[in-house]
Amino acid sequence: MFENIMKENVYKFLYDGQWINSKNGNLIEIFSPCNNLPIGKIQALSKDEVDTVLTNSRAAQKAWAEVPLYERAKILHEAANILEENLEPISNMLQLEVSKDKASSESEVKRTAEFIRYTADAGKNLEGKTLVGDTFPGFNKNKISLITRHPVGVVLAISPFNYPINLAASKIAPALIAGNSVVLKPATQGAISSLMLCEVFNKAGVPKGVLNSITGKSSEIGDYLVTRDAIDFINFTGSTEVGKHIALIAGMVPMIMELGGKDAAIVLSDANIENTAKSIVSGAFSNSGQRCTAVKRVLVMNDVADKLIESMVKEISTLKVGLPQEGAYITPLIDDKAADYVQDLINDALAKGAKLITGNKRVGNLIYPTLFDNVSLDMRVAWEEPFGPVLPVIRVSSIDEAIDIANKSKYGLQSSVFTNNINHAFIISEKLEVGTVQINNKPERSPDHFPFLGIKSSGLGTQGIKYSIEAMTRPKVTVLNIQ
Ligand code: NAP
Ligand code: G3H
Repeated sequence: MFENIMKENVYKFLYDGQWINSKNGNLIEIFSPCNNLPIGKIQALSKDEVDTVLTNSRAAQKAWAEVPLYERAKILHEAANILEENLEPISNMLQLEVSKDKASSESEVKRTAEFIRYTADAGKNLEGKTLVGDTFPGFNKNKISLITRHPVGVVLAISPFNYPINLAASKIAPALIAGNSVVLKPATQGAISSLMLCEVFNKAGVPKGVLNSITGKSSEIGDYLVTRDAIDFINFTGSTEVGKHIALIAGMVPMIMELGGKDAAIVLSDANIENTAKSIVSGAFSNSGQRCTAVKRVLVMNDVADKLIESMVKEISTLKVGLPQEGAYITPLIDDKAADYVQDLINDALAKGAKLITGNKRVGNLIYPTLFDNVSLDMRVAWEEPFGPVLPVIRVSSIDEAIDIANKSKYGLQSSVFTNNINHAFIISEKLEVGTVQINNKPERSPDHFPFLGIKSSGLGTQGIKYSIEAMTRPKVTVLNIQ
């Protein structure tokens, strides 16, 4: 299936339906975070090649928008089937390339196939709108506005390393069903998996040039790419730092930004502590904490803090630490720099008097699940996004204090409230400055058709299948004036 995308471990890029090498001959070597061994090389495109790709994407978009929507949907269904048929090689690559545990790698592929199917069907169900003039003072029924939705044009999809399949497809599929062409710029670490996804769409029959890929060094082509006039929409997922930078330089181009988070789990005295502990531990440590929606701090009422910590320790002790290929749950972080960052947060917390409950063990880029109690607000771990397996517990003495600390974060992705009191849950939910509040569950994006958004430094715009399609289309208004 993937024989066209590489030769002798040199991966090509998808251009106009063909897998080709960069003319400049520059390559980037990708090493596995699991063992530091080389996996393959990817193309490092030049600025000139970026322009060539964008010109091709623009030319292809016009014809694609003319393909009947049900035909576009058929191609997406075919892509979903091909993706599922290739679950094994793709999930193996996820394990090797981004060190994702086996179960999560497989579920990412399955979930993405369902995402693509649902997107195809949602596209077919999109409806236009009619407005009649006589609902506004001074106008009558002879004026009718027909509102239809049109593709924005060329969508630049920039995806992060932590979900190379899902967070690339969650941009590509809604953009394609709406009649856009897509240029995918995947994270460098994760690019091989994302290129495999491109081949899935290519094999499914996405026409030449409608999906192109660009790989290369962000330091060389990143700013150039996001500032090209040929781009009509930027759909970005990644860190707040890079997202804000792109938003600043890109100019007047519409965009969606899915950025970082510091999701709080607020635990009230009446919560079911055992269930809460299970949910928080899976929320904090799945994918080794490398999820935008990971639980990144616990705000627990003093009177149940000891019990919660005891239950969380029990849960944490069942997490297998090691390599994805060994069936481990906690696996090496994406690189040494990421592990150094987490270690710095741990060291800062220890130096400032946090109580280490478990963890603070490191082997290279593999960090054991680490839990801190008595975290105070002067510690970096109380505010910064670790993107790794470290969880701070901050004890609070009132609901207001919990809300106040939760809202002091610069981030606003999700929060959880654990309680059996539905009134408290709703009162707290109303006051939390986040895109989504989960009641009695960990923060999470799925199911993928729910709206998904971050506020403050966590993002811009709304994703979720229907919302993503709407975001990457624009209304076209035709006014009928009956004479
Ligand atoms: P990142 O370093 O910000 O990179 C994200 C993407 O941006 C990569 O493809 C990267 O390419 C590219 N990039 C970097 N500089 C660029 C530039 N100047 N112009 C254009 N593209 C540029 O993020 P990451 O480390 O991959 O992902 C982790 C972060 O993503 C975390 O903060 C996490 O919270 C966030 N995230 C958020 C969500 C959400 O839905 N809110 C979901 C997942 C992840 P290179 O790899 O080549 O540098
Ligand atoms: O990293 C961010 C992903 O969008 C998280 O998705 O919450 O469903 O794991 P998830």
